[in-house]
Amino acid sequence: MYSKMYYLLKFFVLGFLVQSCFATKSFPESFMFGAGTAAFQIEGAWNEDGKGPSIWDTFFHNKNAEENGDVACDSYHKWREDVQNAKDLGLQFYRFSIAWSRILPNGTLNIVNQKGIDYYSNLIKALKAENIEPVVTLYHWDMPQHISDLGGLLNVQFVDYFEDYVRLCYNSFGSDVKYWVTFNEPTIHCFMGYGYGNGAPGFALPGDGLYQCSYVLLKSHARAYRIYDEEFRDQYQGKVGIVLESSWVDAETDDLLDLEAQERSLQFNLGWFANPIFKGNWPEVMIDRIANRSQLENLARSRLPAFTQDEIEYINGTHDFFALNTYYSNAVRYEDDEPIGTPSYSKDLSVGSSINRNFSDNQAFRKLLNYVNDRYNPGSILITENGKGTSDGLEDTDRIEYLKLYLGNLLDAILEDNINVIGYSLWSLMDNFEWGTYETRFGIIRVDYDSPNRTRTWKESARWYQNLIATRVLDNSTIIINN
Ligand code: BGC
Repeated sequence: MYSKMYYLLKFFVLGFLVQSCFATKSFPESFMFGAGTAAFQIEGAWNEDGKGPSIWDTFFHNKNAEENGDVACDSYHKWREDVQNAKDLGLQFYRFSIAWSRILPNGTLNIVNQKGIDYYSNLIKALKAENIEPVVTLYHWDMPQHISDLGGLLNVQFVDYFEDYVRLCYNSFGSDVKYWVTFNEPTIHCFMGYGYGNGAPGFALPGDGLYQCSYVLLKSHARAYRIYDEEFRDQYQGKVGIVLESSWVDAETDDLLDLEAQERSLQFNLGWFANPIFKGNWPEVMIDRIANRSQLENLARSRLPAFTQDEIEYINGTHDFFALNTYYSNAVRYEDDEPIGTPSYSKDLSVGSSINRNFSDNQAFRKLLNYVNDRYNPGSILITENGKGTSDGLEDTDRIEYLKLYLGNLLDAILEDNINVIGYSLWSLMDNFEWGTYETRFGIIRVDYDSPNRTRTWKESARWYQNLIATRVLDNSTIIINN
């Protein structure tokens, strides 16, 4: 029989071990916690104070969609409350985007909308006053309609329009902004907007439109980066990057063919944009496969536009950090190439269907961080989006569980794999317009769309995140500590 004393001792020793083992899992001092939003998803005021229409305004208006971004979270009017919430959460940075057509209603410099500039200036100043670093996305998919009418990302002149717009932003806000990102998730934007037509501007050109989009977009990104370098970096000492999105992709088995399908899949998604920027040129596997299939389709040249050597060099190296969005993981398997027919990205890729998996039982995020670090050697990685969409409700324990698992992976990558992840931006600061629906809610703060006031209410996850930021220790609340 063990004595009561023994149990007591075990109780305290175990408790101490769990706690001290866990206490080592705290975020480094320099690690930054943030949260993000995007203009179209939160601002509303779609035609107020001189704002011009964007392609997403048109997209939903043309469809007479029941839901649109006309009011959204009304952040155009309620931004002070949003800054207050960011402050109360303890955020160290806030990632938001500028609506191009709010400051240039046509997208071009002939009309500059001072009220739009003032809106973002006030927001940035208010954040700085609370010691919250603004992380500014220049383009979160909401192109001015007029620029789209001119061909949008199918027209190489987009590069010049984008240059004019970003220079205006650097000039107007550069003294207060240390982190710029040029484009948000180009893969998804080109895919939806120019490949499969399920997002604005709605072109269904799955065999070539999406590649043309990526070509023009990469040149525009590089121009925006180089301009900062040449005209602003000395004075403002900021950093510029691009936000790339990737799920982690596993191979279904260890068979060499499945492993090849896994790599091909990652290259067609992440490598599509990361390779030109971090290594130079498109990934080989894309160049070869698309050229080969284009030839079999009797085309004179590859559907993937070729970069000149000068362009390859101009685009390569245009990054000061790797900005990564990640939400999901899946698995792929090898399959025979799809037969030649109507060309499309998915046929160019030709891998077996993916299985959506939850992260709960694997190391997907950690694997993705290792992959990014090994392949692209980026120096530093900033997680610009991660989060979970749920239905409505304030008791969002499923979101908290998701975040814990992800952040656990993230900490392992930092502490055990020595990967330099410098910060994490939770998506999203508040529920917002999820590109067609208000039902899926990504916010840690609830927005009541039925109230004209768009009342904001903290969910459980907001309190949890507030506590995490304050303590910097992951999750002492769920580990059973025996003392
Ligand atoms: C986008 C966000 C979106 C989020 C959740 C990301 O792809 O950047 O705008 O709300 O995913 O779906």
